[in-house]
Amino acid sequence: MPIRFCLFILSGLLLAGRFSAAADGPPAWAYGTAPESAAAAPPHEAPDLSVKHLVDSQGAFTNAQIGDRFNPADWYPGDHPAMPDVVSHGRKPEIWACGLCHYPNGKGRPENAGVSGLPVFYFIEQMRKFRDGERTSADTRKKNTGVMISIAKAMTDDEIKAAAEYYGSIKWTPWIKVVETKTVPKSYTSVGMYLPLKGNEKEAIGERIIETPVDAEATEVLRNPRSGFIAYAPIGSVKKGEVLVTGNHGKTVACGVCHGPDLKGLGPVPGLAGRSPSYLVRQMYDMQQGTRRGNWTELMKPAVSGLTETDLLNIAAYLSSRNP
Ligand code: HEC
Ligand code: HEC
Repeated sequence: MPIRFCLFILSGLLLAGRFSAAADGPPAWAYGTAPESAAAAPPHEAPDLSVKHLVDSQGAFTNAQIGDRFNPADWYPGDHPAMPDVVSHGRKPEIWACGLCHYPNGKGRPENAGVSGLPVFYFIEQMRKFRDGERTSADTRKKNTGVMISIAKAMTDDEIKAAAEYYGSIKWTPWIKVVETKTVPKSYTSVGMYLPLKGNEKEAIGERIIETPVDAEATEVLRNPRSGFIAYAPIGSVKKGEVLVTGNHGKTVACGVCHGPDLKGLGPVPGLAGRSPSYLVRQMYDMQQGTRRGNWTELMKPAVSGLTETDLLNIAAYLSSRNP
């Protein structure tokens, strides 16, 4: 073969590789950073100053109180143990109350993380990672991970321990329902979370998991910590994920060896069953990119290094569908 022809083929291959890498990037459906959907968001309305209520709650809060960074609404104090001050109030100026984003019961939302039921050792180790630069988002547009990092940097060891023990004492229970489907409600992203657009229009799901509140108003406006999420996933994804997670594929190792036979966690290794699929995919992608790294994370390298975005999607669909 003439040498010039060989070079032509070679440069073609290199370019193709480059283009596909650039086109991939962090999956917007998991990071909540789909740029096209920001434009579709409904226009901002005038601030609502009325007092809100929820079924079976004695609480009465305005929107401003519900979203107060240093004293967010606690709708159901009977649902959880007494909160340490750092969880209920944080500490001005940097430490926002954990309960604002992760909720007082630690259920969390797709754009942040479920933090209840995590091993105390693991929890403390993550706070150290955020503090020491071993845990950032592979998608620099994901601003709330930046907030999480500045919170961790400002916390004392005692505050971290109190939060870890508090959330660690609450059992992780079902919160997300996985529904396989061909179509999903058309949606837009609001601060990293997918919300359905008005008008009930549908679109093809494609190669995405769309995680959205069961009741958008209850979640986005009221931050109701009893109102969970639906994760729409492509048809067949749960089954494909099961094959990967059980290690019967050769592409990855069996997750249960470390995460426990039911994937509910084992010693210092966190549980994966019933957790947010968007969150799980972000973590595995961050590990692949090396923005989440260091101690302990090294153990995950062989598990994630050979996985494609579709594999991550299928694994997350399966893990989330498991009963915690
Ligand atoms: C502004 C919202 C916000 C607040 C307030 C917040 N977090 Fe977070 N937290 C996040 C986000 C976002 C992530 C990670 C998301 C990602 O990387 O995908 C996270 C992740 C975590 C994790 C990792 C969970 C895991 O499974 O590895 C822990 C632990 C955590 N937060 C603890 C806390 C504590 C303790 C507080 C209060 C002192 C707090 N957070 C306050 C947004 C928040
Ligand atoms: C050799 C042990 C080991 C195996 C096998 C393993 N993991 Fe892990 N995994 C860990 C450890 C340890 C951590 C905590 C890492 C850290 O501290 O950053 C972890 C963390 C995770 C996290 C982040 C959890 C969170 O709350 O942020 C995900 C997601 C995960 N693993 C998925 C998987 C999947 C999926 C598999 C199988 C394909 C798997 N792991 C196999 C040890 C393992």
